[in-house]
Amino acid sequence: MNINQNYLKLEDSYLFSTIAKKVAEFTKEHTEKQIIKLGIGDVTLPLAPVVVEAIKEAADEMGKRETFRGYGPEQGYAFLRESIKNYYSKKSVELESDEIFISDGAKSDLGNILDIFGLDNTVLVPDPVYPVYVDTNIMAGRKIIFADANESNEFLPLPDENVKCDIIYICSPNNPTGSVYTKEKLAKWVDYALKNDAIILFDAAYECFIKSHELPSSIYQIEGAKDCAIEFCSFSKTAGFTGTRCGYTVVPKSLIKQGASLNKFWVRRQTTKFNGVPYIVQKAANAVFSDVGQLQIKENIQYYSNNAKIIAETMDKKGIWYTGGKHSPYIWLKCPNNMSSWEFFDYLLNNIAVVGTPGSGFGRNGEGYFRLTSFNNTEKTIEAMKRFSDLI
Ligand code: MLT
Repeated sequence: MNINQNYLKLEDSYLFSTIAKKVAEFTKEHTEKQIIKLGIGDVTLPLAPVVVEAIKEAADEMGKRETFRGYGPEQGYAFLRESIKNYYSKKSVELESDEIFISDGAKSDLGNILDIFGLDNTVLVPDPVYPVYVDTNIMAGRKIIFADANESNEFLPLPDENVKCDIIYICSPNNPTGSVYTKEKLAKWVDYALKNDAIILFDAAYECFIKSHELPSSIYQIEGAKDCAIEFCSFSKTAGFTGTRCGYTVVPKSLIKQGASLNKFWVRRQTTKFNGVPYIVQKAANAVFSDVGQLQIKENIQYYSNNAKIIAETMDKKGIWYTGGKHSPYIWLKCPNNMSSWEFFDYLLNNIAVVGTPGSGFGRNGEGYFRLTSFNNTEKTIEAMKRFSDLI
C-alpha cells in the first residue's frame, strides 16, 4: 500500500478551515465579544420564497407513489438544463442543453474536471487565487506555474507568449480580488489558448455580481471560447445555495482535443462517478430562472452589493487602497501600516472582533493584502466598518 505522497505537499489544512479554527478558539476565550464574520464568502440571506416553494412542492412529489423519483440523469434533469440554456441565450450565448451538466457546486467540478486531463499537463494559475485550483492539482501531482496578479496589472494577469502551459484557470469576477476581466483582456487568454492548444477552466461563480453588459459574464461571450474553454458556475452566490448545493458546468461539444471529445469524456466521467444532484435541489434551482425567481434573487444580490459599497466607502474614507466591490461581493484591500496578511487578521480579530481572510492564503502575491466579504447582513457590516474606522 502506498499513500498519495502528493498530499504531503499540501498545506496542513484548507484556508477556510484554518480560519474557522482560529475564530472558534478566539470565541471560546472571549465569550463577551460580538464577533462579526466578513471572512468566508458564505451567504446569510435565506433562500428566495419561490425557491422554498419549489422545494416543498418537489418534496411532496417525492412523497407520492405516482410522482416519486429514484436515480435521476447523472447530467441533470432536462428542465434545469433547458432553463440554463435559456439563461445563456439571454447573454447571447447559444448552447445545446447536453453541453450543460448539473453539479453539486462549482468547487466540486473544478476539482473533478481534472479527471479528464493527463497528469503531465502544466497548469497555469493566477496568484492570488481561490485555493481549490492549486490544491486539487497538487493532489494530482501536476506541475503548477503562476501568473502574477498585482497592483500593476490591476490583479488581472495577461498571457505571456514565452510561458507555455496546457490548463489555465481564470476566475472573473475574481475570488479573492474582485477584479473583472474586460472582453478585450479575456480575448487575449482565449487567443493564447487557441494558439497554444491549451484549455481554459473559467470559474464564473460570481457572474451575477456583474452590473455592466460591457463586461463578460461568460467566457463564451468571447469569440473562439467554445473551442478552448470549460465554464463553471454555481447557485451558491447567485441564489444563496451554499448549503443547498447546486451548480453547473458547461463543456462545449466543439472541444475536441487529440481527436477526443471532452464533452463525451465528461459524460463518461460523470456517469461513472456521479449519480446526479437531488431532484428536490434541481427543482429549487430551476425556480431561480422563473420571472419571479429572477426578481427575488436580484434583490438579494443588490443587498450584498450595497454591503460591498459600505465597505468600499470605509476604505475610501480611510485612504486604504482596494479593488473589487463594484462587480463583486469581495473587497481586496492593502493592509495598513505594512502589516502582513496574518498580522492584520489577528489585529482585527483581537481588537475589534472582525474576521476577514488573509490575502496570503490565496497565494504569495496576496501577502500584505486582505479580503472582506459583503455576504453578512447590513447591520453587522455597518457595525464592522464602524469598529474598523475607530481602530484604523
Ligand atoms: C470563499 O470564501 O472564497 C468562498 O466561499 C469559497 C467557496 O465558494 O468555496
